[in-house]
Amino acid sequence: MPLVHMKDMLQHAWENHYAVGGFDLVSLDFLEGIMEAAERESSPVILSLAESHFEYYDFQLAMAASVAAAERASVPVAIHLDHGASMETAVEAIRLGCNGIMVDASHHPFEQNVALTRELVTMAHGCGVPVEGELGYVAGVEGEDAERHPGEVIYTQPEEAARYIEETGVDFLAVSIGTVHGRMRGQPRLDLERLRAINEKVQQPLVIHGGTGLSDAQFCQLIDNGVAKINYYTALSDAAAHTIRANMNDQAGYTRLLDGVRSAISKETARCMQVFRSSGQAESVLACAQPWRPVEHVILYNVEGIDSGQVDALMAEGRRVLGQIPGVQRVITGRAIQKQARYAFAWLVEFVHPAVIDSYRDHPAHVAFADQHFRPVAGDRVSIDFQT
Ligand code: 13P
Repeated sequence: MPLVHMKDMLQHAWENHYAVGGFDLVSLDFLEGIMEAAERESSPVILSLAESHFEYYDFQLAMAASVAAAERASVPVAIHLDHGASMETAVEAIRLGCNGIMVDASHHPFEQNVALTRELVTMAHGCGVPVEGELGYVAGVEGEDAERHPGEVIYTQPEEAARYIEETGVDFLAVSIGTVHGRMRGQPRLDLERLRAINEKVQQPLVIHGGTGLSDAQFCQLIDNGVAKINYYTALSDAAAHTIRANMNDQAGYTRLLDGVRSAISKETARCMQVFRSSGQAESVLACAQPWRPVEHVILYNVEGIDSGQVDALMAEGRRVLGQIPGVQRVITGRAIQKQARYAFAWLVEFVHPAVIDSYRDHPAHVAFADQHFRPVAGDRVSIDFQT
């Protein structure tokens, strides 16, 4: 079960001077290729799902596949929402299994970025989920994916970076120091002085977006100056597309066209893991990182003063209301099969992380439902939270 807390994973990377790749996936070929590389390289890995790519796949299905891939992995895995567009997406991503979140407010002015990000941090930390904030703006320049990041590059100001972290409470800071999303035009020029100044002021894991196109030496310079997570997509997409073009002929069907795509993605991912120096780090991350495990919140109860139909209505309302609370994975309601059971009814509310025990208890939707609907008719009850 090597889904691990992303904060522990990146703290380990930061302290030990390497970076974990946040590899964006857009299909099962990507997911399998990335995981194959992580296993081969014994590397921690971040599976990244970017909202700007949601038109290419069904987010819910891709998350189910990503969680399944993480659960069967022998290397530590975190699952991250990349460039989320709203609080709603963040809540949904956490519900589906993301244990790292970014909602991109970097195109807003400083104060607005702070306000939006702080609200996100409050929600996500209530679910035990760390947050990546971006200050400055990493634009796209040309080629695959660049069009999804319009506008000009805005460099991160070191003085603002420390203030941003203090005011928002973000766990990781994505900085803009000269990288761009998408293919690079010529040799990218990185402002390493700026990165060094940010690292000195901030003293927590930094993130680089737009990893494609940097040289091995540049990756090393980034890591030596506090970068612990590097986002990487376009080169994987180009490796896949190159393979498909090479497979092209009049007879090639869908599966023939995709032949070799997974291994091309895997090869490029493995190369990154070597350059980012995350190869071989899996075991030491597993030794120090908290495993990411859900909590089962169980309530067994009897009712008084309402009939069977009203119990059904109570359960339906509970599923609807409680299922929307951040950090709730699902709400299951049931009746005892045995007529003589000590308790006739049950709730099973699954939380993504133990932090949700408190945030759920205090959430206004839970308080209102419990006080107005449930507790008045269910005085006879027991509840317990347990982890499998
Ligand atoms: P590249 O596509 O330039 O590698 O950048 C990926 C990225 O930063 C995703 O957030």
